[in-house]
Amino acid sequence: MPSRRLSVVATRRLPDRVEARLAELFDLHRGPADRPMRREELSEAMRVADVLIPNLRDRIDQALLGQAGENLRLIANFGAGVDHIDVATARQRGILVSNTPDVVTDDTADMTIALILALLRRIPEGLAQMQSEDWEGWSPDAMLGARVAGKRLGILGMGRIGQAVARRAAAFGMQVHYHNRRRLREETEAQLKARYWESLDQMVARMDVISINCPHTPSTYHLMNARRLKLMKPEAVIVNTSRGEVIDQNALTRLLRAKEVAGAGLDVLNFESDGNPRLRELPNVVLLPHMGSATREGRVEMGEKVLINIKTFADGHRPPDLVLPGMY
Ligand code: 8YV
Repeated sequence: MPSRRLSVVATRRLPDRVEARLAELFDLHRGPADRPMRREELSEAMRVADVLIPNLRDRIDQALLGQAGENLRLIANFGAGVDHIDVATARQRGILVSNTPDVVTDDTADMTIALILALLRRIPEGLAQMQSEDWEGWSPDAMLGARVAGKRLGILGMGRIGQAVARRAAAFGMQVHYHNRRRLREETEAQLKARYWESLDQMVARMDVISINCPHTPSTYHLMNARRLKLMKPEAVIVNTSRGEVIDQNALTRLLRAKEVAGAGLDVLNFESDGNPRLRELPNVVLLPHMGSATREGRVEMGEKVLINIKTFADGHRPPDLVLPGMY
């Protein structure tokens, strides 16, 4: 550990009080305030820094890690998801990776429920009607949606966020079902009143709402592929507050257009696929700009977690939120 102050590069602006504390403790440099770092800027930052604070828009792949400077020892990600970081290569090169779990849980779970309500109760369509000139007043059969209570919710990925979604959904009277790599302990299942499905296909075929809450990893990439999406009941909807890559977005777009899937609420998109403009045109789709964890409180807590991870590392200990290869 160098005795000089650690050089810490944040690729993007962090909450003021977090930046202030980081600047007290370390030699803090910050990337451009209004845009993500360009690849060459990121490469330079990784060449000079002891610690890098990236976010999900900084793709830290094998090539960039290969050019990293000898000093780079910690990548303290501002965010829980680490699918933009090649954690295994970082590990091989002796670079630790940490993230910010827990503090994004409640906000992301709230947004999942918001999307479910928005779709089933047609909130964006109602809003659009009120903003247009052509609302003719209440009528008994206008804007009929679907009752939330009693609907079957299938949660794909029952980690912290999935479980927080399950608790909220139960309060709305939904029946909670889930699929996960590992089955939860019996007591946890009982507390959450959640039914486990070993077969994702069978769960998908029986749900009214599917919620994606698993991380994006090589094994969850396009987990909801065309074949699986087709198993959904035509009146069922899907929501995603995790990562766009878990759903085959082009297949989903086709099925939505064909009315084989009733609706989609997507806080995250897969920008590599060209589904976005076509998705935007569909009335049964609610698109949000990845704002699941975007609360003022959440951003400060994420920054504080980053700070704790770096400070603990600087003090010669293992960062509390260390990410190991294959952990997500
Ligand atoms: C964050 C997220 O805003 O924590 C995550 O993984 O997806 C987001 O909610 C983002 O990661 C910030 O880098």
